Amino acid sequence: MLGIETSCDETAASVLAADGAVLSNIITSQHAVHRRFGGVVPELASRAHIESIEDVASEALQQAGLVWRDLTGIAVTQGPGLAGALLVGVNYAKALAYALNIPVVGVSHLEGHIASAWLQDPAFPLPCVVLVVSGGHTHLYFKEPSGHCRLLGATKDDAAGEAFDKGAQLLGLEYPGGPAIDRLARQGNPEAIAFPRSYLKKESLNFSFSGLKTSLLYKLQAVNEQYRTAQAANLAAGYQEAIVAVLVKKSFAAVQSSGARALAVVGGVSANSRLRLLLQQRAASESVQLSLPPLAYCTDNAAMIASAGRQALLAGLRAPLTIDAHASLASSFAQAH
Ligand code: KG4
Ligand code: ZN
Repeated sequence: MLGIETSCDETAASVLAADGAVLSNIITSQHAVHRRFGGVVPELASRAHIESIEDVASEALQQAGLVWRDLTGIAVTQGPGLAGALLVGVNYAKALAYALNIPVVGVSHLEGHIASAWLQDPAFPLPCVVLVVSGGHTHLYFKEPSGHCRLLGATKDDAAGEAFDKGAQLLGLEYPGGPAIDRLARQGNPEAIAFPRSYLKKESLNFSFSGLKTSLLYKLQAVNEQYRTAQAANLAAGYQEAIVAVLVKKSFAAVQSSGARALAVVGGVSANSRLRLLLQQRAASESVQLSLPPLAYCTDNAAMIASAGRQALLAGLRAPLTIDAHASLASSFAQAH
């Protein structure tokens, strides 16, 4: 099974064996292309995907020790994401499926992230709570034994990854901001500078991060350059702590209220070292089973897309060769499941 992912600024391809084992997981990041603009420029993303998709897919096949004719199915991210970027992957997958006369399935990027929790440990139990934290999503789901996902809560404004990226921009750190804050925060004290933690209404499993970003902006406006430089690590650590503390608290509140004994945390922000540490400590103290994918499966990758697609193909799903990219697929996924 070949998986293709081109929804944002990573061109990725992965090959899975018939039993679901990952044989290769190739990711080409476009960070260098977008860095000087401080964020992803959609048109540049599409062009960079066109330039690298063929090499990335060939490399995935080669690393798996296979040739094109060995493939029996293709999974591609259909949405959500940047329309032009998605189109590159979808059209590449369709052309390949046509040429090889094998089935293709369109996968929701969110379903892909959720599937990443089972890549390393296919026996991770259901039901479980799943927190998807990425640049575009902060969604809490209850995944039932049937595999069906019920939405428990979501962000009312910025996604957690967006809060990291915007905070990093205010702090003058390079894109992508999440890893930059993570690195700088390791030298700071998370308690030195207090940031607001938005829990919304009692028992709410929704999130809000826009006030936190504003609070950082006001703090920076009130001080001079010298203070900013001297306190950069403490600012990063305090800001990160405010995001991470809310994510941990609400995830375990969802575990408690749903009666599940397992929690999976997926998406780019799940690569955050402070979040991983706090989740591991809390899971150990409350005897909750925790799935935290290895770093290569946290940020965008195609192994997760191939895995979700493999399940769809096994369930008999097939997409016609007329499938199209679907930039806002997320909302329909959240409602339909
Ligand atoms: O899942 P992902 O690669 O793409 C989306 O689906 O959005 O997530 C990207 C997000 C970005 O906002 C990035 O800053 C954040 O994940 N991220 C991190 C870390 N690594 C990536 N945030 C905090 N700490 C990290 N170590
Ligand atoms: Zn993603």
